[in-house]
Amino acid sequence: MDRYAVVGNPVSHSLSPEIHKAFAAETGERLRYDKLLAPLDGFAVTAAEFFERGGRGLNVTLPFKGDACRWVDEPQPAAARCNAVNTIALEGGKTLGFNTDGIGLVRDLEAQAVPIAGRRLLLIGAGGAVSGILDALVEENPASVRIANRTPAKAEALAERHGTKVAAVPLDRLDGRFDLIINGTSAGLDGDGGLIAPPFAAGAQCYDLLYSRDGQTPFCRWAKQAGAAWVSDGLGMLVEQAAAAFTIWRGRSPSTRDLLRSLRSGTAA
Ligand code: ATR
Repeated sequence: MDRYAVVGNPVSHSLSPEIHKAFAAETGERLRYDKLLAPLDGFAVTAAEFFERGGRGLNVTLPFKGDACRWVDEPQPAAARCNAVNTIALEGGKTLGFNTDGIGLVRDLEAQAVPIAGRRLLLIGAGGAVSGILDALVEENPASVRIANRTPAKAEALAERHGTKVAAVPLDRLDGRFDLIINGTSAGLDGDGGLIAPPFAAGAQCYDLLYSRDGQTPFCRWAKQAGAAWVSDGLGMLVEQAAAAFTIWRGRSPSTRDLLRSLRSGTAA
């Protein structure tokens, strides 16, 4: 059976095996999908061993997306631009590196009827998560994109890759109004969902790249309290980026929205 895995540290919480097993069952593809815990300084050894033993493809999660981009034989242009690979496929004896996070986010927003074109976007954070989605968002033609980060220099470096539509603003010097606010910081992990003043979220649509099964991440809870018009966590993005990876590996497009509902209710395989 063709072998796939998600590699990360930590990785025990990953929903990717559940998602890919559901895709395989739905499309009739025969494959095995495991979790691989790599030592923090051991991505290259773990990945090389996996492919030497006949592995066909890897998903890459935190904190290895940058390592993966450097390790693959051929990072694809979109992955190379954001310096992050979340999907590796073995083709013709070579490892190819892709990034499906951006398309995953765009497809989830589309599925939830949240427009990007013509809208004023605020991205909070400037780490790997924001770098991975920025190009895909810009391609959807928003009116403007502001990137606000605790460390302004990182936001400036990201904005520099783009034209005048994209600009960096220090977190404490935000002004104006935003239609869609996307949290790409890991701050929510330690319980602090409110990195911007509540009036910025009031009336806006707010999306968290982090997820939880019940959709109630700290950022989502905070945004709701701050009067957001609409709030979503990133579970739909996780399923959509996985579907894009599955299509790269198997040439089949699995359906996603029923699976998302099952994951929410805890009834997925
Ligand atoms: P990832 O790959 O998940 O994006 P990362 O590259 O470490 O991880 O980036 C984490 C992001 O969360 C960064 O934007 C970080 O801000 P800095 O660039 O200033 O470090 C942001 N972040 C993490 N904890 C934060 C906190 N308590 N307050 C504000 N921003 C925080």
